[in-house]
Amino acid sequence: MDGHRGTPYRTIEVSPYSPHVGAEIGGIDLTRPLPAEQLAELRRAFTDHLVLFFRDQEIGFDDHARLAEYFGTIGRHVGVRTHSEPSEDDRVRRFHFDEYSEEVSGNVWHTDQSCAPVPPLASILYNHTLPPDGGGDTLFASMYAAYDALSDRMKTCLEGLTALHDGVRVFGEGTPRATHPVVVRHPDSGRKLLYVNESFTVRINELPAAESRHLLAFLVEHCTQPEWTCRFRWRPHSIAMWDNRCAQHRAISDYLPNVRSGYRVQIDGIAAPVAG
Ligand code: SIN
Repeated sequence: MDGHRGTPYRTIEVSPYSPHVGAEIGGIDLTRPLPAEQLAELRRAFTDHLVLFFRDQEIGFDDHARLAEYFGTIGRHVGVRTHSEPSEDDRVRRFHFDEYSEEVSGNVWHTDQSCAPVPPLASILYNHTLPPDGGGDTLFASMYAAYDALSDRMKTCLEGLTALHDGVRVFGEGTPRATHPVVVRHPDSGRKLLYVNESFTVRINELPAAESRHLLAFLVEHCTQPEWTCRFRWRPHSIAMWDNRCAQHRAISDYLPNVRSGYRVQIDGIAAPVAG
């Protein structure tokens, strides 16, 4: 199938989930090292589709880490309090919810750890066990499409603004805070995108408090309009890999006390977000 930009893929099958975000990748075996051409096409699909989904991949820790290392260096969560826990392998965190969980992780729209001075580039979540009757889907939204849909007047208004992102509400005292531009340019695609989210963005620095509150409320709601989202329905041994620099996501909390269980790896960011 063709990529968004019209160039056909030769070594992987790419099936978009929506016009703006998400594609399922077939014809690939993540339990083995990838041939160079397939890896190049996977990287291109990641840039074009923002979030990649894989099915029926029974990966182990080494496979999970190898996929991450194709895109960067494996990193650590910046939160003081997180929902993941260590696994038998230092590089990979266990991500498990069941009848003893008080809540699930990430059920408010966010980009992972945007409170960090250099937020993670991407996250790769592998789930081997899912609730028997469905549930636990993940929603994704394109911040390119959110930016593109703004009026020219609003785009002009946002130019040069910065916002404070604070991790304290989500991850507790001692978690970092950082200021990032409200409009950011993606280092790989060169496209502009909206970079505020409901979980972490607390104020727009250059505006008085009331203006900041109202503008932020509008932007946060605008970011996740259904027109630029997709919904991923997990099955056992599925993987979702999202570009944290241009996509937001939200986990749906509808399955407890059933079990949803897997592992996740985070890829370090390379540089702080740059103004668009
Ligand atoms: C998260 O954002 O922390 C979780 C995403 C998911 O579980 O689907």
